Amino acid sequence: MLKMNKENQGRFSTMSCTRIHLPVLLLLAMVLFSSCERVTSNVLNVDYRGDNEGLPADGRVTQEQHDLSQDHNIEMEVKAKGNNTLTIEDGVPMATLSNDNTIPLVGLGVGNLQHYLVPLLIASAEQGDKRIRLFDTAHSSDNEHLVAQGIIQGMDRYGNTAPPPNNNTVGKNNGEKDKKLVVHVITKVWYTHLGYERTKLSIKHSFEQLKEAFDHPLVDLRVHMMLHWPRCYDNIHFMNCEEDEDNLPEHIKKSGPPPLEDKKNAWKQSWRALEDIYQNERHLYPLESIGLSNFNYYDLIQLDTFAKIHPHVLQINVWSLLYDPHVVDYCETNNIHIQVYNAMSGIVANPDKAPKAYHHLQKIAAELTTQIEEENTEDSFGELEIEELSPAQVVLAWLIQHGVGVIPRTSRLSRLSENSAITLMQVPELNNLQVETVAHAVEAYLSGTDLEEDIHVSVTFHAPENKDIMIFWNGNDGKKVHVAYVAPGDRFEETTYPDHSYRLYDAQDIDIYVDYTVNAKLGEHKNVHVEL
Ligand SMILES: NC(=O)c1ccc[n+]([C@@H]2O[C@H](COP(=O)([O-])OP(=O)(O)OC[C@H]3O[C@@H](n4cnc5c(N)ncnc54)[C@H](OP(=O)(O)O)[C@@H]3O)[C@@H](O)[C@H]2O)c1
Repeated sequence: MLKMNKENQGRFSTMSCTRIHLPVLLLLAMVLFSSCERVTSNVLNVDYRGDNEGLPADGRVTQEQHDLSQDHNIEMEVKAKGNNTLTIEDGVPMATLSNDNTIPLVGLGVGNLQHYLVPLLIASAEQGDKRIRLFDTAHSSDNEHLVAQGIIQGMDRYGNTAPPPNNNTVGKNNGEKDKKLVVHVITKVWYTHLGYERTKLSIKHSFEQLKEAFDHPLVDLRVHMMLHWPRCYDNIHFMNCEEDEDNLPEHIKKSGPPPLEDKKNAWKQSWRALEDIYQNERHLYPLESIGLSNFNYYDLIQLDTFAKIHPHVLQINVWSLLYDPHVVDYCETNNIHIQVYNAMSGIVANPDKAPKAYHHLQKIAAELTTQIEEENTEDSFGELEIEELSPAQVVLAWLIQHGVGVIPRTSRLSRLSENSAITLMQVPELNNLQVETVAHAVEAYLSGTDLEEDIHVSVTFHAPENKDIMIFWNGNDGKKVHVAYVAPGDRFEETTYPDHSYRLYDAQDIDIYVDYTVNAKLGEHKNVHVEL
């Protein structure tokens, strides 16, 4: 059991100003692109969409993009600037946007979550032990009203479980019931609503759906509005371009031309609508920020030709973060906060997709757990108890330590805490080797090609001087698998994994045996002197 002390609660904030910025990520992308040919060619052929919308923004990477990415590496080497400022509010890390507003770095994705779970999870996420203050959804998820309900239900419970504020707590709510709880919601305009008037109607609709939370006297709701996609793509399996247009309510159809008629440019009118509302209609629709989602580099640079405001936030697939350095660089140059989805479903949610990569993540999780244990004393103050860090937390920490926002979705209450900012803030700063290893592990998942080198525990079994032994592995299905015979005084080295178990027999009398369970971390070596 790990206990966090007060000093460590400040760890995140003290390192944030000096270290968390995108240049490190750009260097990271360079590391990846040093093996660009192999990776990109794999990615081009792999459908890694998973159970969700996890795919490159336009469904594919063109050769042109790939070539540009290679050229770009040279540029990235010299561009070492960072402007991603992080602060701590209400005990959780916040990214500062280019309009000086802030947004939590860690949120909960509820898009595509089963409807009945939405209020339940949000209400629980809001509680003081998790302090999730950002909920990501979309018009197309048809659950904005449930998001509002969850926020209110959570607010009604909030205060009972809120821990006392620590030194870093500078937010509006410190657990007292008479103060407003600041809650951020991201929602998005679907591709059917591209075009000036249609986008305005979509925004109006979203605000109506969120009204209950807006009107709550104890909630300070901050809405971030994005364009979900630049257009409808025929080659993306969950998009039904013509059918969706046909099924729209009449008043939407009549409000503006079908975006399908001008697939290239319809989103530009939407952006104008967002800008107009953000600048002139905040009394009606108080937008905290405006942003884009799933826009690739070619669409983004169009903004430079007409936009009055650059997006404050860009939400992209984690894939783009690694394989589209142009997008990362564009965001860096224009001070756009990057947020990623697919950080779980594309990676740790399926350990078997890249088991070697997973073992590397497990090893880093174990190293960081040990580091926390060593830095914390038994009697130290702690509001959190962490058994052991998970590979998922390593990936999430890797992202937020680079200033990249995350919005993992979960349907399990038990995972809310694991994925929460308050827990992730306790993860020590990853060292360079760990950063690089996580990058390669993530790449292995996204490309569909596992790492070449696995990582194990090695155990040397030493037989007694006067006895020969037989080693059996207790297989997963309960069967005993013969591993080795070891002569008296001899030894045998086994490559294994944490928690695997063995039965060590006296070779002359099978009624005499001892059991051994591997109690070691990946990468470690153990000597076992068998006594029978
Ligand atoms: N802008 C866009 O176009 C776009 C596209 C997709 C998603 N999103 C947003 O992003 C949010 C996240 O969705 P996503 O598709 O990117 O999914 P994700 O968060 O990458 O992955 C969700 C999956 O990971 C599992 N998971 C969650 N936490 C885990 C943990 N700690 N360890 C292991 N597995 C874990 C969940 O299983 P359990 O439920 O069993 O925990 C679920 O199966 C969505 O809710 C949505 O709001 C946006």
